[in-house]
Amino acid sequence: MLLENKTAVVYGGGGAIGGAAARAFAREGAQVHLAGRTPDKLEAVAQEIQADGGAAEVALLDALDEGAVREHADAVAARAGGIDVALNAVGIPHVQGIPFAELSLDDYLHPITAYCRTNFVTAQAVARHMVAQASGVILTISTSGSRLAVPGTINYSTTCAAIEATTRLLAAELGPCGVRVVCLQPDVIPEAGKMGSHTRGNFQPWAERLGVTIDEFLAAPPDRTLLKRWPTLADVAEAAAFIASDRAAATTGTVINLTAGSVVN
Ligand SMILES: NC(=O)c1ccc[n+]([C@@H]2O[C@H](COP(=O)([O-])OP(=O)(O)OC[C@H]3O[C@@H](n4cnc5c(N)ncnc54)[C@H](OP(=O)(O)O)[C@@H]3O)[C@@H](O)[C@H]2O)c1
Repeated sequence: MLLENKTAVVYGGGGAIGGAAARAFAREGAQVHLAGRTPDKLEAVAQEIQADGGAAEVALLDALDEGAVREHADAVAARAGGIDVALNAVGIPHVQGIPFAELSLDDYLHPITAYCRTNFVTAQAVARHMVAQASGVILTISTSGSRLAVPGTINYSTTCAAIEATTRLLAAELGPCGVRVVCLQPDVIPEAGKMGSHTRGNFQPWAERLGVTIDEFLAAPPDRTLLKRWPTLADVAEAAAFIASDRAAATTGTVINLTAGSVVN
């Protein structure tokens, strides 16, 4: 198993990507700590993991709250003897599809500040423990928006570029201490939207402007991916488990392209 005896914290662990990654981590032997704000969503993932024989614990916390995140990380590390893997899969609702001339400054800044805040707060809380044990892996999530120039996405695409830059800079800060930092970069995952991901709401203005329902929007075949399909939750979860494992021991400061080919490097 890839993550035997590892302790993993998944922020946003009740979400579509967080839940899928947590199930993959647990299947690979990790003890998983799911953190988020809604008990039902977290419990549902924990129960699936436990039903499959895995180990999962749930904690209610706001991943934007520095003190709460630090207290939780300290408690997990104290109980488990450290933290080996942390994934920030938090989703911040925001608007997309609004032309620049109509976009408010608040709608522009909201995802940038919230995503930068949660990634800073969670990375710092776990890094303190990883540095002390001289090992660990921090995973962030962006999208193809960091590289594509799609009108109507200036707020979230700028966010994704910031998350990827933060990933590289954290890798530089923490690499000498044995800690790896890697960003996962999927394109749109329609499966997540169908499961109730906050991205459904983000994409709503796109659908309205195109004159289709959100389900029709999510069902539309991709014209921009080389593989002529969108990435799946399994694609992201399996990559996350591999990158978190010692099999990817030389991988840090980089972005894992999970776009199905909408971005080429
Ligand atoms: N879905 C896609 O198509 C897609 C594609 C590429 C990248 N991504 C990115 O991947 C990440 C996860 O997306 P997703 O589709 O898995 O979203 P999701 O299903 O909506 O899950 C996001 C999770 O974050 C939690 N959350 C939100 N605010 C929080 C806070 N302040 N503190 C703690 N937890 C919080 C939510 O639970 P609570 O509200 O209960 O706390 C939810 O479980 C996002 O950054 C998204 O932009 C998604």
